[in-house]
Amino acid sequence: MACHTVLPLLLFLPFLLAMAATAADIAPGPSPPPELNLTSILENGGQYTTLLRLLNATRITEQITSQLKNSYDGLTFFAPNDSAFTKLRAGTLNALTDQEQIQLLLYHVLPRYYSLATFQTASNPLHTEASGSGGMYSVNVSTSTTSPLVNVSTGVVDVPISSTLFAHFPFAVYSIDSVLQPPQMFGSSHKASAPAPGQAAAAGRQKGVPKGDVAAEPSEAVEEPEGSSTNAAAAGRGTAVWMTVIVLGGMAFLNLLVSA
Ligand SMILES: *[C@@H]1O[C@H](CO)[C@@H](O)[C@H](O)[C@H]1NC(C)=O
Ligand SMILES: *[C@@H]1O[C@H](CO)[C@@H](O)[C@H](O)[C@H]1NC(C)=O
Ligand SMILES: *[C@@H]1O[C@H](CO)[C@@H](O)[C@H](O)[C@H]1NC(C)=O
Ligand SMILES: *[C@@H]1O[C@H](CO)[C@@H](O)[C@H](O)[C@H]1NC(C)=O
Ligand SMILES: *[C@@H]1O[C@H](CO)[C@@H](O)[C@H](O)[C@H]1NC(C)=O
Repeated sequence: MACHTVLPLLLFLPFLLAMAATAADIAPGPSPPPELNLTSILENGGQYTTLLRLLNATRITEQITSQLKNSYDGLTFFAPNDSAFTKLRAGTLNALTDQEQIQLLLYHVLPRYYSLATFQTASNPLHTEASGSGGMYSVNVSTSTTSPLVNVSTGVVDVPISSTLFAHFPFAVYSIDSVLQPPQMFGSSHKASAPAPGQAAAAGRQKGVPKGDVAAEPSEAVEEPEGSSTNAAAAGRGTAVWMTVIVLGGMAFLNLLVSA
């Protein structure tokens, strides 16, 4: 009879779901206090795998941590999420030298704390922590009295601050939908600026590099879409799913025995 099979399953379902959820949520260890830890702020935000990799590879995380300890003005960090990085042309990060990757990240750091409200009174341009032969690289912010949005523009991209991940003096971390591209690196005359796909292929041939390496292949070091943090969560979910499948299978088998 049908209810014979279904009823025990229904009784166990909430328990199974709770078990699956717990297995997926198990943290790798005791969570450190979230304050002033860029890594944990970004990990808690999810969706920042590429940024976390870049921050680690360039050791900018350490730099920010020590600056926060020694700064009277605080820091503001703009955090492009994973989809922001996928919007860059394939191979863009690969094409940057280590030094340029550092510059790109420092371009996302303002050497003082801005709350969303203090952006309203900030006067453009705002210096970032990146600089080059032309001097300090800067961004402009624009606010409007009619909308709560704050836009950050570089001259190459104009992107609204879409959410606040952390804002507590001395540290503010805002999530943004595009990587802030400094005109000094991504302006029309620079090598890192987006060439048409044909040009990228041509450049690849000139250097004797397979076309795929230049234009398409994501960098293993920094552009691999799945990071270690998401892998752990995915592994947790995988385990939970398997446990559920095994338990459900066992119960179905028992039901068959009972109803037979
Ligand atoms: C920041 O948090 C990460 C993980 O959330 C941890 O591995 C790291 O040790 C923390 N850093 C500091 C300086 O506490
Ligand atoms: C961070 O980079 C170091 C090498 O600089 C590497 O050994 C380590 O595994 C990286 N950690 C993460 C979480 O990517
Ligand atoms: C911010 O940019 C969006 C488009 O990206 C635009 O619609 C909006 O008016 C801008 N807001 C301000 C305050 O500049
Ligand atoms: C930033 O603002 C300054 C001052 O208002 C202006 O001169 C400059 O052209 C702006 N730059 C960009 C990229 O919007
Ligand atoms: C981050 O990525 C998602 C897509 O995965 C996008 O919808 C979202 O608006 C992005 N931006 C922020 C700031 O979270």
